[in-house]
Amino acid sequence: MAPRKPIQVTVTGAAGNIGYALLFRIAAGHLFGPHQRVILRLLEIEPALPALEGVVMELDDCAFPLLAGIEATSDLKTAFDGTNWGLLVGSVPRKEGMERSDLLKVNGGIFKGQGRAINDHAASNVRVLVVGNPCNTNCLIARSHAPDVPAERFFAMTRLDQNRATTLLAQRAGATVGDVKNVAIWGNHSSTMYADAANARIDGKPTYDVINDTEWLHGEFLTTIQQRGAAIIKARGQSSAASAANAAIDSVVSVVNATESDDCASLAVVSRGEYGIPEGLQFGFPVVSDGKGSWSVKEGFDLDDFARDRIRVTTEELQAERSDVADLLAIGTKGS
Ligand code: NAD
Ligand code: LMR
Repeated sequence: MAPRKPIQVTVTGAAGNIGYALLFRIAAGHLFGPHQRVILRLLEIEPALPALEGVVMELDDCAFPLLAGIEATSDLKTAFDGTNWGLLVGSVPRKEGMERSDLLKVNGGIFKGQGRAINDHAASNVRVLVVGNPCNTNCLIARSHAPDVPAERFFAMTRLDQNRATTLLAQRAGATVGDVKNVAIWGNHSSTMYADAANARIDGKPTYDVINDTEWLHGEFLTTIQQRGAAIIKARGQSSAASAANAAIDSVVSVVNATESDDCASLAVVSRGEYGIPEGLQFGFPVVSDGKGSWSVKEGFDLDDFARDRIRVTTEELQAERSDVADLLAIGTKGS
């Protein structure tokens, strides 16, 4: 059988903390499996190019059989030329005491130029995952500057919140993480996100049948996930990196492969009005992928008054963020 063409993966902010935890896993085959070669296209700002050179040396020194090439650059066109997947990580992380939305002013502009470069230079099947915070609205900015790329090809990362929720539920139930399925993160990757325990299943049973503690599920469970990023910054002095890189890998894998019928993947995708969410927002939903390049928002989630109220709050926050970056959105963006 002829070897498959390598998949081109662009990683921005490649010399940063997440980049360092991410690149070696991509090169080892964790995105597309053990038979698929990859070419890494690594973007950094100029002052970080010497550090990136060191990362490239280390990638070379691993002699990864699947790594078919590396392009390290500070040029947007070179970084996105012919790329099949863009992982947009490069941006400033928050410091202790900040909300992720405080980064909009400093990071938002980055995604304008990158969206345009993706529009003009990426492969026709390009897909994009935005990790840099605040990731939902940064993704909206990038998407708005890539009018030739279908909006469904843009994803923002809520997977880390899904993974956090999965572990918390498993620990509380005395189950394994593999027993916990169908964990949806609704809305914004921020302190308003709604982690949906009610529709999750533990060992095939509704969460509330296994963890009979509404006070915990409505209280500490939610706030722990909402504040987890801040707790890590407080403890480490810098934001999550290995778990964020892992969630980025999980996100891409969940788009590329078909979702099991009893499960969902949490991804922030363009809203087409599902569950009453305003169209055009880059909104965290439970997503199912067909494994052939298409996905849809999973139907049939029951949302009670508590859930609806939480979802309203996170929706309003995303609408406010969209207004705050109106000057960074392409003219005529109605969110489509
Ligand atoms: P970092 O500071 O260690 O690395 C960021 C890198 O991006 C740096 O090397 C910097 O030079 C580079 N960079 C800055 N501007 C750039 C640009 N215009 N083009 C290309 N590269 C650029 O930060 P990190 O810990 O790797 O975090 C990166 C981002 O990811 C932050 O915004 C952080 O908040 C976010 N994050 C998101 C999630 C999530 O779940 N969505 C999780 C963790 C971190
Ligand atoms: C996280 O959730 O760990 C990241 O978004 C980093 C942060 O600022 O919280």
